[in-house]
Amino acid sequence: MDSAFERSPEQEALIAEWAPPEVDTGRPHSARIYNYFLGGKSNFPVDREAAEKTLAAVPQARTAARANRAFLLRAVEHLGRLGIRQFLDIGTGIPVEGRNTHDAAQRIAPDSRVVYVDNDPIVLAHARALLSSHPDGATAYIDADVHDPDAILADAALTETLDLERPLALLLIAILHFLPDEDKPTDILRRLTDRLPSGSYLVISHLTGDFDPVSTTGGVAAYRNAGIPMQVRSRAEVAALVPDGWELLDPGVDPVSHWRPDPGTELPDPVTIGCYGMLARKR
Ligand SMILES: C[S@@+](CC[C@H](N)C(=O)[O-])C[C@H]1O[C@@H](n2cnc3c(N)ncnc32)[C@H](O)[C@@H]1O
Repeated sequence: MDSAFERSPEQEALIAEWAPPEVDTGRPHSARIYNYFLGGKSNFPVDREAAEKTLAAVPQARTAARANRAFLLRAVEHLGRLGIRQFLDIGTGIPVEGRNTHDAAQRIAPDSRVVYVDNDPIVLAHARALLSSHPDGATAYIDADVHDPDAILADAALTETLDLERPLALLLIAILHFLPDEDKPTDILRRLTDRLPSGSYLVISHLTGDFDPVSTTGGVAAYRNAGIPMQVRSRAEVAALVPDGWELLDPGVDPVSHWRPDPGTELPDPVTIGCYGMLARKR
């Protein structure tokens, strides 16, 4: 390579720290902390500091983040094999090359259609990567908050991409633990799911303190101290998120690593995961 085009370490550092003006790099954000756990580069010093404080309390947080992302991909592929071609992914996260919902869905069926929703401007800044749909399918991105389900369901990007008269899969992966009980997550879920037709699916993953209560309490405190509300839930509390009229499918609420693992996978100790996954279907 021509050395005139090589970047110095200082230039690389400046590029890595670049953020669009609407991104507040002075406060940590859950999407960027999670990106740090996954080994990504879309995070800033405040995020890394909050992430390191979490890792001090919960050293297994990186393993948990990877297991959660792997669960997302397995669940989407499973749904694709069941014939689902429409996905609404709320709490998308910063894209991970080749490991996003549309990548998994379109590997099974290229005509799959995906609508992504997140409230973090950094995800919006990366949305182009989420819009790299296979030409036979479609993807769209909505900058919105899960606290406003009606706005999400009425957004033109959603109604132009998904057919709400046909079954779809609603993904709420690693987002509901950012909704404490006072935010009424069951009401939000009911408002999101009421409009969906019979035969639709709901995929949830959710942090829990069931396996390692002491370190989980430390991890939750690290997030709250960083200004990010968080509430972990027990297996029974996660199961109780399944809305009325929906049935929890096999294998029930399981650690994400244990939920329909790929054949031959060695299952980790759930203590190293601390995150439940589940799949439900509307009757
Ligand atoms: C831990 S990441 C999970 C990303 C992805 N679902 C996964 O499991 O790999 C949580 C995501 O939820 C988003 N999020 C958190 N609170 C939200 C809210 N109130 N409305 C919309 N998105 C939210 C964050 O910006 C972040 O991208």
